[in-house]
Amino acid sequence: MARGFFITFEGGEGAGKSTQIDALADRLRGKGFDVVVTREPGGSQGAEALRHVILSGAAEPFGPAMEAILFAAARSDHVEQLVRPAVARGAIVLCDRFIDSSRVYQGITSHLQPSFMVSLERVTVNGMMPDLTFVLDIDPAEGLRRATQRRGTGIADRFEKEALAIHRKRRKAFLDIARKEPERCVVVDASDTPQRIGSRIAEIVETRLEASGIKPPLERAGDEI
Ligand code: TYD
Repeated sequence: MARGFFITFEGGEGAGKSTQIDALADRLRGKGFDVVVTREPGGSQGAEALRHVILSGAAEPFGPAMEAILFAAARSDHVEQLVRPAVARGAIVLCDRFIDSSRVYQGITSHLQPSFMVSLERVTVNGMMPDLTFVLDIDPAEGLRRATQRRGTGIADRFEKEALAIHRKRRKAFLDIARKEPERCVVVDASDTPQRIGSRIAEIVETRLEASGIKPPLERAGDEI
């Protein structure tokens, strides 16, 4: 039975997650892997519809608990419609943000009850925890500078425009998760050059895939003959 690999990328604003995801996807596709690139909130039809509601700030008046529920609903649809089937067919799924973003943004900086967050997590992730998570770590002042530059004249989203102190708290919370789950999480210094960050990530991914016996579909077919 084919079983793929689920990799998530986490971190603050402007940490360079999407650049690294695109580079890793190109590299893995070049080796013959079936790669699926996705993001949260979003990644499936239902979740993309919720993405707009959440990031525009339209749900903010309902309060942080309701926002967390919307993120959870979007995640549940994404997991069941896209992530789980892709991993089951043997694909490597690269996802821009996942459960750790909810733990940090909703759980820590929106001060929601840990027991509420744990319950939401159980029903939305439904056993589909990432095999590997990269935490791209950057000083929030630098991250926000990069995010502003990237956005150009566009409007900052609901979360980007929050105070620097809140972004600093998030940075610490991501690092705390990585410390508590060292098997799953790898912290990467996102202030380094994109090339060096990319090489480090590729090396770790290739080592993990090899250790898990995950091969590109063509090589796998060869093994089965
Ligand atoms: P996005 O435009 O995807 O930003 P980024 O490039 O920073 O990933 O916006 C996603 C925003 O939603 C980001 O500010 C983090 C926030 N978010 C949460 O608060 N909780 C979550 O569970 C997820 C997935 C994202």
